[in-house]
Amino acid sequence: MSEASGSKPVVAVVGATGAVGEVLLDILAQRNFPVGDLRPLASERSAGTSVTYRGKAYEVGLAEPNAFEGVDFVFFAATGALSKDLAPEAAKRGAVAIDKSSTWRMDPRVPLVVPEINPEALRGHEGIVACPNCTTIGFVMALEPIRRAAGLRRVIVTTMQAVSGAGRPGLDELENQTAAIARGDEPVVEAFPARIAQNVIPLCETFRDDGYSTEEVKLLFETRKIFDAPELDVTMTCTRVPVPIGHSASIFVETERPLSAEDARRALANFPGVTVVDDPGRKIFPTPHDVAGKDEVMVGRIRKDLNGDGLWLFQVADNLRKGAATNAVQIAETLLRQRG
Ligand SMILES: NC(=O)c1ccc[n+]([C@@H]2O[C@H](COP(=O)([O-])OP(=O)(O)OC[C@H]3O[C@@H](n4cnc5c(N)ncnc54)[C@H](OP(=O)(O)O)[C@@H]3O)[C@@H](O)[C@H]2O)c1
Repeated sequence: MSEASGSKPVVAVVGATGAVGEVLLDILAQRNFPVGDLRPLASERSAGTSVTYRGKAYEVGLAEPNAFEGVDFVFFAATGALSKDLAPEAAKRGAVAIDKSSTWRMDPRVPLVVPEINPEALRGHEGIVACPNCTTIGFVMALEPIRRAAGLRRVIVTTMQAVSGAGRPGLDELENQTAAIARGDEPVVEAFPARIAQNVIPLCETFRDDGYSTEEVKLLFETRKIFDAPELDVTMTCTRVPVPIGHSASIFVETERPLSAEDARRALANFPGVTVVDDPGRKIFPTPHDVAGKDEVMVGRIRKDLNGDGLWLFQVADNLRKGAATNAVQIAETLLRQRG
């Protein structure tokens, strides 16, 4: 650790003024992450303003290479282009860059980590560690207990993703469009490819030539990398829904070995970071509203396929917390533990 901070790490947060960055500061405090000194960073738009950490105001600096001198951990929660330029600069200066963008996720030199699932991938990192996509994290957390119990043969998933997955602009768009509709005005469409208020959009990010979206293929390839299962059969549709916080996924799983709904429920309930919320008799199921502001991944609607051996699950996770900031902080905690 840098000498200036005593034994506690110096932490920089790139994108500290954004949706994920703000939650990340809260989570560092809530989890009592040992912060020796904090450097919130952003673009020229916000440099000179302040953010609050543990009740104290910190001036926002400009995200540039020199800002990483003497820093131990740099959380990147800004843009992919910025992570591409600056994560190597942070690593060059001896910091570990923990990146929330998609830039480094599929780089074979960079571990892609969900600490409950593949912490061992962190060993031998070269200064950059990637956090999976917010949708992927909840999805793999629900699949891993089932994978361990019975193996995975095929997975079919439809996601219902909150507007905050597109950051502050996404949240603002839902709010502005809802207000416009209430006034009787035509909503302005900017952040998403169609109106999101009172609507569902079957496209997150952009379409590729093969008809899948860039978000959908992230889910496929990131899942394969995290599970170290390059052939895993996952097929998916990602949609955007008018929910502020909390991504949902309806998941159909075929396992390699038979697994009853009861055994799946038990495996899920025993897995760290997963909570089973599933009591059909009392109409108890997980919703994005329930999980917003929480770190756990909730799973319910666990039931056998009526036509065969597969299982259905409904999974929700807070995309800004476990889907982003919490997972990033857990990576830093794991690195500290591994260093002993
Ligand atoms: N939202 C989610 O659910 C989620 C989940 C997982 C991963 N992510 C990823 O996390 C990152 C941040 O997402 P977000 O949702 O928090 O976005 P956001 O709300 O739009 O915030 C973006 C942040 O990045 C900063 N920034 C933008 N351009 C910059 C530049 N050129 N130099 C320095 N700082 C710059 C902004 O600072 P200013 O105030 O200066 O503009 C702001 O702090 C993205 O890579 C995103 O893909 C998001």
